[in-house]
Amino acid sequence: MGLMPRLKLAPSILTADFGRLADEVRAAEAGGADYLHLDVMDGRFVPNITFGPLLVDALRRVTSLPFDIHLMIVEPERHLDAFAETADIINVHIEVSPHINRTLDAIHRLGKKAGVCLNPGTPVSAIEESLPDADQVMVMTINPGWGGQQMIPRQLQKVAAIRRLLVAGGHPGEIEIDGGVKVGNAAACAAAGADVLVCGSSVFNAEAGPGQNLEALRRAITGP
Ligand code: DX5
Ligand code: ZN
Repeated sequence: MGLMPRLKLAPSILTADFGRLADEVRAAEAGGADYLHLDVMDGRFVPNITFGPLLVDALRRVTSLPFDIHLMIVEPERHLDAFAETADIINVHIEVSPHINRTLDAIHRLGKKAGVCLNPGTPVSAIEESLPDADQVMVMTINPGWGGQQMIPRQLQKVAAIRRLLVAGGHPGEIEIDGGVKVGNAAACAAAGADVLVCGSSVFNAEAGPGQNLEALRRAITGP
């Protein structure tokens, strides 16, 4: 009987106060974040535009948290090198990766962990062939583009289905849930089989500061 590994929390800076971003990131780190989740958007794959490697490079000087880079961009394979110095995990979307096996391989050749993401409208079968090659599978529980949206609950069934496939195939990949994670649904995310929860507005925009918000999420998962 093995111990269950601790579920990881990955604050996303998307809805943080960018005027005091370094402080926000330091508060998340002090509050026990496991990763920093960084949402790169290009205005093409998703309607919104956020930031690129310049900001990620700057944050690398602020925190030692592992960087979980979420590329919501077309042709992600063209931009992997730009994150080679800073990223720990690079996640690409299956919907814009016709040669996913080659892209995951390219990420590994940079010495990084490789993640594959799927949108709410994309079936599990689309990533099934990638499971042996992926260190992480990111299940979008919102339509990507903005923080602060409501989770689409039936996406948790997808998490459970991917968990079953990982176990059946003996693949070590972890499952990350991205979108709408809150104190009220964190336990359900854990129960569905997630290893990592992205938490944006529930860390940076909820009542208390990032430290207390992370603590509340942690309590919601582990119980009082
Ligand atoms: C949205 C991003 C998410 C976002 C999550 O497209 O991928 O990482 O920041 O924010 P919340 O937790 O507020 O849904
Ligand atoms: Zn994200």
